[in-house]
Amino acid sequence: MGKKYLKVLFVASECAPIAKVGGLGDVIGSLPKALKKLRVDLRIAIPKYKGIDFKKHLFKIIAKKIKVGKSFVNIYQGFLPGSKVILYLLENKKYFGENGIYFERGAFVGSFREIQRFLFFSQAILEIFENLNWFPQIIHCHDWHTAIAPLLLKIKTKNKKPKTLLTIHNLANQGEWRAKKILDFLNLKGDEIDSLKIRDKRKKLNILAQGILNTDFLNTVSKTYSQEILTKKYGEDLEKILSKRKKDLFGILNGIDQDRFNPKACLNLKVNYSVSNLNQKRENKIDLQKILKLSQNQNFPLFSLIGRLTSQKGIDLIAKIVPDLVNSGCQLIILGVGERKYENKLLKLAKKYQRNVSVQIKFDPVLAQKIYAGSDFFLMPSRFEPCGLGQLIAQRYGTIPIGRKTGGLADTIEQDKTGFLFKEYKAGAFLRVIRKALKFYQNEKEWKKLIKRAMKKDFSWKKSAKEYLKLYNKLIA
Ligand code: GLC
Repeated sequence: MGKKYLKVLFVASECAPIAKVGGLGDVIGSLPKALKKLRVDLRIAIPKYKGIDFKKHLFKIIAKKIKVGKSFVNIYQGFLPGSKVILYLLENKKYFGENGIYFERGAFVGSFREIQRFLFFSQAILEIFENLNWFPQIIHCHDWHTAIAPLLLKIKTKNKKPKTLLTIHNLANQGEWRAKKILDFLNLKGDEIDSLKIRDKRKKLNILAQGILNTDFLNTVSKTYSQEILTKKYGEDLEKILSKRKKDLFGILNGIDQDRFNPKACLNLKVNYSVSNLNQKRENKIDLQKILKLSQNQNFPLFSLIGRLTSQKGIDLIAKIVPDLVNSGCQLIILGVGERKYENKLLKLAKKYQRNVSVQIKFDPVLAQKIYAGSDFFLMPSRFEPCGLGQLIAQRYGTIPIGRKTGGLADTIEQDKTGFLFKEYKAGAFLRVIRKALKFYQNEKEWKKLIKRAMKKDFSWKKSAKEYLKLYNKLIA
């Protein structure tokens, strides 16, 4: 005993596998395990959503009726599955009890109900420590959902103030609403702190902007993206505010759970494989073609995309290149949920090219692993990409990523070595790099080299967790 461990509380809207929509959930469900290995007393708090499966995950109630604003929360405690990381679920029927995690398909804020949900959650976080008998030294906030916490800490908490770190996973989703509604909900007049007087372009109060201005440190999930967001092109109208915090802004690359994503051991594959028996990978391809009712031929180049079907992910570019892909003898698989207009566009294409294009509108982690393993190429033509996890998982499975040279894609795909990058957000540029990638594919020796290099890359959390720990120590120094 004796030694005091750094106490850090993660507060977020998602945590895989308990509650997940996108990459944010994967990060909250995996980075804490790596920090725990570095002996951080790391705990997580998320809302107790209706959809959380209490039969599958064990939680017990540890505190009841803690006052938060005009309402109350109960606290449940359990573990992040497969770990000793403590996970708290905050319960309140009114704010967390209906619907899924978010209220819109694209996961972007579309209603005040969602704003309220996360304002309330952020308020609640600051009220629970007494009951836990545990006081974090650092509150690590993620995205707009908990970005109001640093401000609330500044104006509401008198003694024992934890430090704050805000990680931005998605700068485009900011949580803006009419200022009066937000201030009323928080029971604030609006003159408590200077930043509260700031309005965004639509004359609304912007919760993420408040987080950026009031947090002690902030970071985003790759080096390149942390620089890009200071420019007009990538700043989502927050570049000026971000520039004010430039010296406290860091870039730390995401990792993946390499035990969960492991072609050697993954139970969801037809056949397991590794760099030394790559031929087995092909059997997963045939299996996948069979499951999704595509023409079965191990020589057809198989492309895939897994993710949120939103404008960020470049789905319009995908739709544009489908006919060319199919005409050059390739197949395409898409798995994900998102904006209806993209879902419909893709479904139409799948109908037109039934034997070569399959579009699966759903969340399906098992199928996702089969796709990562069975495909030859993984597409990520994102407009912007803070980090991106798909290209990391794909490389782990020896599936070659083709992505836009931006954000985390630029930092994790090595041109012509582990994957391919294109710069201009245009179908032409995308197709050109695909053709180049196909040349490699046709040269078996070169292709195997590429796959081996990709599979040997280390995308575990080890290195990045150390960087977070360094940042935490700097924060409390
Ligand atoms: C968001 C970003 C993605 C990132 C993920 C986790 O989903 O769009 O780039 O990898 O968050 O940080």
